Amino acid sequence: MIQKIKGTFDIMPEEIPTWRFIEETARTVATRYGFDEIRTPTFEATELFRRGVGDTTDVVQKEMYTFLDRGNEGRSITLRPEGTASIARAIIEHGRCSDAMPLKLFYIISCFRCEAPQAGRSREFYQFGTELYGTETPAADATSIAVADALLRELGLPNIKLHINSIGCPECRPNYRAALVEYFSAHEAELCPTCQARLKTNPLRILDCKSPICHKIAEGAPRTLDHLCPACADHHKGLTEALDALGITYEVDTAIVRGLDYYTRTVFEFIAEGIGAQSTVCGGGRYDGLTEQIGGPRLPGIGFAMGITRLIMAMEAAGITVPGKQPPKLYIASLGAAASMKALQLAEALRNDGLYVECDLVGRSLKAQMKYANKIGADYTLILGDNEIETGRAMLRSMKDSAQEEIALEELAEKLK
Ligand code: HAM
Repeated sequence: MIQKIKGTFDIMPEEIPTWRFIEETARTVATRYGFDEIRTPTFEATELFRRGVGDTTDVVQKEMYTFLDRGNEGRSITLRPEGTASIARAIIEHGRCSDAMPLKLFYIISCFRCEAPQAGRSREFYQFGTELYGTETPAADATSIAVADALLRELGLPNIKLHINSIGCPECRPNYRAALVEYFSAHEAELCPTCQARLKTNPLRILDCKSPICHKIAEGAPRTLDHLCPACADHHKGLTEALDALGITYEVDTAIVRGLDYYTRTVFEFIAEGIGAQSTVCGGGRYDGLTEQIGGPRLPGIGFAMGITRLIMAMEAAGITVPGKQPPKLYIASLGAAASMKALQLAEALRNDGLYVECDLVGRSLKAQMKYANKIGADYTLILGDNEIETGRAMLRSMKDSAQEEIALEELAEKLK
C-alpha cells in the first residue's frame, strides 16, 4: 500500500471542525484589527528564501524542499518554508509599497521544511500569520503581538507565555557580532561544523543551533540587550510600555533570537507549557530590511506566524473541545422504487431550502435504513411508501422522544426549520 510521505499528515473529517474553528477565529480576529487576507503561491524562486530568510539559516541550509523547475529548466524553485518572504515579494511585485500605510495582511498557508518529524513538528505544516508593513513604531509591534494574544485568548488559551527580546539593527549588530565572535572563538573546537563556519559568516545563528553542545555554549553568550544602540533601546522600551498599557503580560527573554535572518529589533515567541519539546506556538518579530534585501524599496515590517498543529496540541492539553459535525435534521427512509425516487426528490428540495437531509443511497432494507438513521443521529425520520406518495402525507418521527405526527410533505421544510 502506498502511504503518506514521512513528516506529512492527513486531516481527517472528524478533525476538521477544530481546524475550521481555529481558521475562522483567526480570520475574525485579524479582520477586527484591519488585516486583509492574502494568498501567494506554494512555491517560489529559491533565491527569494536565500536572500530573504538568509543563506546561513538552518531553514535555507538544511530544510528547504528545492528542485529544478520542470517548466523552466535550470531555474531552482522551493516549496515555501514560511510566508513572510513570499508576502514581501508579492507586495513589491504588486506595487503596494507606496500604498497608504500601514499595510496589514494575514494568511493561512501550508509550509514545508525537511526537519526531523516529532510531535508538533512536521515537514508539511500550517501557519496562520500576519504582517504589518510601513511603520517602525513600537505601537505597531504591540498591535501585532496583541493580535496573537487576542487569538490565543479566543481559542481558550489565555495562559500561553509571551517572551520578547530585541536583537538590534544593522547599527548595533557589528558591536554585538564582535562580542559574539570573541565569546564563541574561545569555544570554537567544541562547536558543530556548521557553527564553526557560522563563526565566520553569521555568529548570531549559533545562538539558535539545535545541536545540544552549541546550545549549551550559547547559554553563556553575550546578550543582545546589552549591546543595543540608543534607538533600538528606545524602541524596546517603547514596546514594553505599550504592552504594559495594553495589559499584555510578557517576559523579557534574551534567549529569544529567532532562526531567520531578516529580523531586526523586536523578536517574540508565545510558548505553551505541557505540549512537549515543540512548545513555541507562535514566533515573530520586526524585519525592517527584508524588502530591500529582496530587491524592493525600504519598507519596515513586523509580523508573526502560529503553527496550527501546535495550537491544536495546546487546546487538547487544556481540554478544549470544538463541537463536531452537526447531525442531519432529517433522514428520509423509503420502501420501494417509486418511494426511493420520491425520497431523493424530497431530500433535494429540502436541501435547497437550507436543511441538512439524508436519504438512502445504497439500497438498504427499511429496517437497515432506520438503524442507519439512528447511527448518524438524525433529529427526525420520515418513512415514504406508496401510500405516502399517494396521499402526500407521512409520519414524521422525532428520534429524541419518539413522538410522531402526521404531516403534509409540502409542510416539511416549514416544520423542520
Ligand atoms: P517560525 O518561527 O519559523 O517563523 O515559524 C512560526 C511558527 O510555525 C512556529 O512557532 C511553529 O508554531 C510553527 N512551525 C514552524 N516549523 C514547524 C514545523 N516543522 N512543524 C510544525 N509547526 C512548525 C516564521 O515562519 C516567520 N515567517 C514568522 C513571522 C512572520 N515573522 C514575521 N512575520
